[in-house]
Amino acid sequence: MSEPASGDAVHRRSSARAGLVTSVIDGSPVPGGRTIPSTNPALLNEVVGEVSFGDAGTVVRAAESAKKAQESWAAIPAPIRGRAIAHIGRLIEDNAEALARLVTAEIGKPYGEALGEVREIVDTCDFFLGEGRRLYGQTVPSEMPDKQLFTFRRPVGTVAVITAGNFPVAVPAWYIVPALLSGNTIVWKPAEYSAVTSAAFHDLVVRGGGLPDGVFNVVFADGAETFAGLERSLEAGLIDKVGFTGSSAVGREIGALTGRHLQTACLELGGKNPLVVTPSADLDLAVEGALFSGFGTAGQRCTSLGTVIVHESVHDQFLASFNAAVAGAKVGDPTQDVVMGPMLDEKFAARYEEYLDWIQPHHAVQAAYGRITADNPRDGFVGDPSTGLYYHPVVVDGVRAGDRMFMEETFGPIVGITRYQSLNEAIELANAPGYGLSSSIYTTDPKDAFTFRDKISAGMVSINNSTSGAEAHLPFGGNGRSGNGSRQSGIWVLDQFTRWQAVNWDYSGRLQKAQMDILELTPDTTFRL
Ligand code: UN1
Repeated sequence: MSEPASGDAVHRRSSARAGLVTSVIDGSPVPGGRTIPSTNPALLNEVVGEVSFGDAGTVVRAAESAKKAQESWAAIPAPIRGRAIAHIGRLIEDNAEALARLVTAEIGKPYGEALGEVREIVDTCDFFLGEGRRLYGQTVPSEMPDKQLFTFRRPVGTVAVITAGNFPVAVPAWYIVPALLSGNTIVWKPAEYSAVTSAAFHDLVVRGGGLPDGVFNVVFADGAETFAGLERSLEAGLIDKVGFTGSSAVGREIGALTGRHLQTACLELGGKNPLVVTPSADLDLAVEGALFSGFGTAGQRCTSLGTVIVHESVHDQFLASFNAAVAGAKVGDPTQDVVMGPMLDEKFAARYEEYLDWIQPHHAVQAAYGRITADNPRDGFVGDPSTGLYYHPVVVDGVRAGDRMFMEETFGPIVGITRYQSLNEAIELANAPGYGLSSSIYTTDPKDAFTFRDKISAGMVSINNSTSGAEAHLPFGGNGRSGNGSRQSGIWVLDQFTRWQAVNWDYSGRLQKAQMDILELTPDTTFRL
């Protein structure tokens, strides 16, 4: 699989050269189309790179390339593909700081968190490098003599991966690493506003893995063109599986489209993640967890905290400490040690301003909210707020079950607070929005913890830990409006990228009919002591 390390080969594969990022299909850059700058949300005058956009036809060509490459990629022994994953992990680790700096520059994720994001890719590679030597099937006893039964995992084929930009490299890796390991080829469509980081990641994966042309294609295109290209590719039988991380609304469309082609997409959608604080909770710990999950990544994780559901007996104390923690949190320049940087991109800032309009007269907000400006300043701001998309972190108390603020995902630095009387009521409130991704309970009472675990609808449950920060080898995914039950990460994601093949081998030399030609032992059913 090793490619000569000649300058030519290296050059040919680059998707980001001289500041221009392009799609890469079958190992070659595909320039052309309109070019759009990707800017730094912390320094809006800084262009991180120019991105050349393809269209629906680009998606179809990438799917053709993936299709063409798939058979020979799947023919490479799985342990060798595992070695490729090992090398990818090492190359990412060796480039961790540079990649994290790009994440910070392009989406404004604080550098410490960006390094954590890169670590999540390495963790994923660490897990899957050994899976190449497992990918276990089973040997199963037959009901007939001289016959053997087996199961084999087979790759699904070609996979289209469409990802959001809040985790521009870690979440894509959750799809791409196991998909490659299990013998699939890929068309990846990253978010437009994180294209430069995505191009760097694409380079690292292709070079680190020594991947043959066409195995891992990347396409930069807008949502409408991508959807049209996906539809055409599915109709032409070029795509066998779709992985999508993004909004519940788009997830529904992708689910419907793939359903028409008798496929189930792997969907990782929004969340309105609850954090329950019980009377027995360690309140300082709960405040720390709420601060990180509410305002880390400026509240723009799918696992970010939506609503704190706090017992009435500890409500006032929790609220006072939480407000104090939020007031003291460092906000500003994401290259510095801050809790919260800017919004990811203009489009998220604009949408977040709409969410702020959902604040109603019956809500109580203690501090300033909205954009941080000279007229609406924030104490202790790190840097100059006028250079970027900076917003105040906001805590909204008095949220009620019917409020829009309570029911809908509010991607951004805003946390609602509501109170409860009984644990059953808290769980009902936690389930009410109908999402079901992540959830958390702070308690020192095991009965509360296990009752919550049993009754919460979420796919992920934290006990005395925040709603965000899932580890990369536990099943990740949601229910209800958060997804269709698919799970990523660890051994569980293998069911997304492989299909079971059942094999029976009869060496008796005669036709033995299942359920008919079977031996039966005769029990003595009348025997009594
Ligand atoms: C996302 O926001 O799409 O659990 C994923 C977490 C991270 C992943 C978030 N490990 O918060």
